[in-house]
Formats: sequence, structure tokens, C-alpha cells
Amino acid sequence: MSDRHSPDVLVRYTPAERLRHWLVAILFVCAAASGLALFHPALFWLGGVLGGGAWSVVLHPFAGLAMSLAFYAFVRPLWHHNRLEPRDRAWLRAMRDVVDKREDRLPEVGRYNAGQKILTYVLAAALLALFATGIVIWRVYFSNYFAIGVIRFSALLHAFAAFVLVVGIIVHVAAAVWVKGSVAAMTGGTVTIGWAFKHHRAWFREMIRPSGGR
Ligand code: HEM
Repeated sequence: MSDRHSPDVLVRYTPAERLRHWLVAILFVCAAASGLALFHPALFWLGGVLGGGAWSVVLHPFAGLAMSLAFYAFVRPLWHHNRLEPRDRAWLRAMRDVVDKREDRLPEVGRYNAGQKILTYVLAAALLALFATGIVIWRVYFSNYFAIGVIRFSALLHAFAAFVLVVGIIVHVAAAVWVKGSVAAMTGGTVTIGWAFKHHRAWFREMIRPSGGR
């Protein structure tokens, strides 16, 4: 067992990783609430998160930009753990057992399972689209450089990517709550060896090797 771990727990996220993740989550709430407030009058009240309607207009693009950059800083060092492998296909085929929580019937899972990996790609694609289209429709600084058709198309794509991101985050939070012990990994930084063995066995084996690396 590596020195960095007590006999009962494994480090899953360092303090810096957790800080980056929760920064993304807070900025997501700010960007999503202010964006929805701008999207429809019925959701105008959500603008209160950033100090009211006028402040939502001003701060929404900055919150979105900061969220995209924080997401990149958080995910970049973890990206290699999200590469799809042949065993991920077997995991996806065994979805019935995943839903039934029959981990004993599933192929061994690395640091992240196929569902987490695919969701991370979806979040990254949605954020990239939001970032690019957000620049185009950011009237104060950039819209002057683009044709009206491009701005209109970008506004449409921006709303669609926002929808994908919000649905993705609902799935992400539901999965985090559903797999007991996950949220503790992102708050306290550690998981029990039982949790690691049950949910991410290949990662568990890697971590208990004398070199116990990430
Ligand atoms: C209240 C909101 C959130 C909760 C409760 C939450 C919870 C979690 C938990 C528990 C993990 C650890 C999963 C594991 O190690 O197995 C995690 C990882 C992660 N979260 Fe969140 N999260 C939230 C918001 C967000 C947001 C807004 C984003 C991005 C826009 C995000 C992106 C990620 C990513 C990329 C990972 C790493 C998974 C991977 O790389 O495959 N999370 N989250």
C-alpha cells in the first residue's frame, strides 16, 4: 500500500482537484441560473443569483467563461483516465446489471466507468460549444466581428448546448447520489477500499500496487 494512503482509505481527489471541481459547480449554478433568467421571462427570478436582471446580463458571460476555463483546468489532468477501452463496451452491454447494482457480474472498471467517461465527453463538448458560440453572441466585445446569420445560428446552438449541459449535470448529480460514497470522494477526497473494490476494481488494483500511482 502506498504511503499516501491509510490502510482503510484511498485518495481519489487531492484538495486542488476538489477545489477546481467545486469551483466549476458553483460557476455552473451562476451561469445556468443567469442564462435561464435571460432565456425566458418566466425564469427571470433566477437572475437573483447574480444580483438581479441587469447584473445577470453583465455577469452571465463572465461566469460562463470562468466555468469553461475551470472545467478545462479540472478535467485536463484526469483526461487520460477517461479514454474508452474495450472493457467499457462490455460494461455498457451489461447495463441491466449496472442498474440492478450487480457489480459482481460486471467487467472490472478503472478509475471511471464507461457511463462517467461518456458523460465527461458530453459535458466537454457542450462546454466547448457554449464557449465558442458565447464569444460570437457576446455583443459588448465580439459580435461586431460576425455576420448576423452567424450570430443567430450561434444563439440557437448556445441554447441547445446549454440544454445538453443542464441535462448532463442532472444525470451527473443523480449518479453521484445513487452510487453511495461518491460524494464523499469529492468532499473529503478519499474512498474506502471496499468502495474502490466494489465500483472501480481495476483502479483499486492499480492503487494498492507498491507504486500506487494515479
Ligand atoms: C452539485 C453539483 C455536483 C455534484 C454533487 C458533483 C459530484 C461529483 C462527484 C461525486 C464526482 C466524483 C465521481 C467519482 O470520482 O467517481 C464528480 C466528478 C466529476 N464532476 Fe461533478 N458534481 C457536480 C457538478 C459538476 C459540474 C457542474 C461539472 C461540469 C460542468 C462536473 C464535472 C465533473 C467531472 C468532469 C468529474 C470527473 C469525472 C470524469 O472525469 O469522468 N461536476 N462530481
